Amino acid sequence: MSQSEPLLQVVDLKKHFPIHRGVFRKVVGAVRAVDGVSFSMDPGDTLGIVGESGCGKTTVARMIMAAYRPTSGEIWFHPSNGEPRVDLAQIGHAAMRSIRPHIQMVFQDPFASLNPRMTVRQILAEPLVVNKVCRGRELEDRVRELVELVGLKIQHLNRYPHAFSGGQRQRISIARALALYPRLIVADEPTSALDVSVQAQIVNLCLEIQDRLGLAYLFISHDLGLVRHFSRKIVIMYVGKVVEQALAQPLFARPLHPYTEALLSNVPSTRPSRSTHKIILRGDPADPINPPSGCPFHPRCLYAQTVCAEVVPPLEEVEPGHLAACHFADTLHLMGCDALGCVI
Ligand SMILES: Nc1ncnc2c1ncn2[C@@H]1O[C@H](COP(=O)(O)OP(=O)(O)O)[C@@H](O)[C@H]1O
Ligand code: SF4
Ligand SMILES: [Mg+2]
Repeated sequence: MSQSEPLLQVVDLKKHFPIHRGVFRKVVGAVRAVDGVSFSMDPGDTLGIVGESGCGKTTVARMIMAAYRPTSGEIWFHPSNGEPRVDLAQIGHAAMRSIRPHIQMVFQDPFASLNPRMTVRQILAEPLVVNKVCRGRELEDRVRELVELVGLKIQHLNRYPHAFSGGQRQRISIARALALYPRLIVADEPTSALDVSVQAQIVNLCLEIQDRLGLAYLFISHDLGLVRHFSRKIVIMYVGKVVEQALAQPLFARPLHPYTEALLSNVPSTRPSRSTHKIILRGDPADPINPPSGCPFHPRCLYAQTVCAEVVPPLEEVEPGHLAACHFADTLHLMGCDALGCVI
């Protein structure tokens, strides 16, 4: 694959869940969970998707995994060198079986995602056996390689998930996700069920693995600070829409959307002595069943003006490679990490 061809290209992706009422299950509305999301990732890339709970992050991930059929939009994925790209938004079950090994997911809750009745050896061997990748001595060698890759020991292979801590279980989930040599790992809040001290270990492990294997990560989190360590590029979502998208460095240095500024101001500083400037957002995130008119962020925005309640701001390239959906993106001069004190 040439470097100019993206590994994953998501185009105007939407997922509206119908709301049914009454005995005839009449459709009376829709949850606009994802409402026009676009981004692309190169091979070996790291992209972070960030936003408050309920903004549609998991729904995006589930559409990429072909677990949900999108309402509309495209999800182009390049399986491997020389093979044509496929649209995961349209793909059937049979075709997805050959794509599945290339895209693997790590879930938020390692307690729920590991079968408690299987040993670590069985958990790691299962995808290799089901996909007929290897067997016998070769299978055992691969399982051992995987367990060591995630910093666990050979003797852990005979144990069951309940014998491990949360962090160790997430290591097992990561090893399982790596078993089939994926090109893309979709990690949906992979550390949010873990203690803060363990979170950093898991993030570092993922980075080390990426260095060694060159795979791409789509890293989903509500925590902008955590995503910073991971991501070359960051997509900020608010009620189903992308409100800002940029490389991590310019996004942290000079955000162009007031929502990003507020999220940044709440990133804890790694230098506790620094004074921080926290922006407390008014009210709750907008309701995806009945989003506000105009800019969906306007009821909570410190900078809202009359036009904001009336006209939807399009997502536009305000600076090269830096997109924002705000009528005043080029005039607001929002505070970046330094001014806010969130040095990370
Ligand atoms: N299967 C579903 N049916 C109806 N609504 C759903 C379904 N899954 C998610 N939603 C709704 O879609 C919105 C986005 O959810 P989700 O993608 O889980 O957000 P996030 O992962 O960012 O917290 C929420 O309002 C949620 O209640
Ligand atoms: S368009 Fe208006 S309400 Fe929306 S983010 Fe920009 S200033 Fe705030
Ligand atoms: Mg989620």
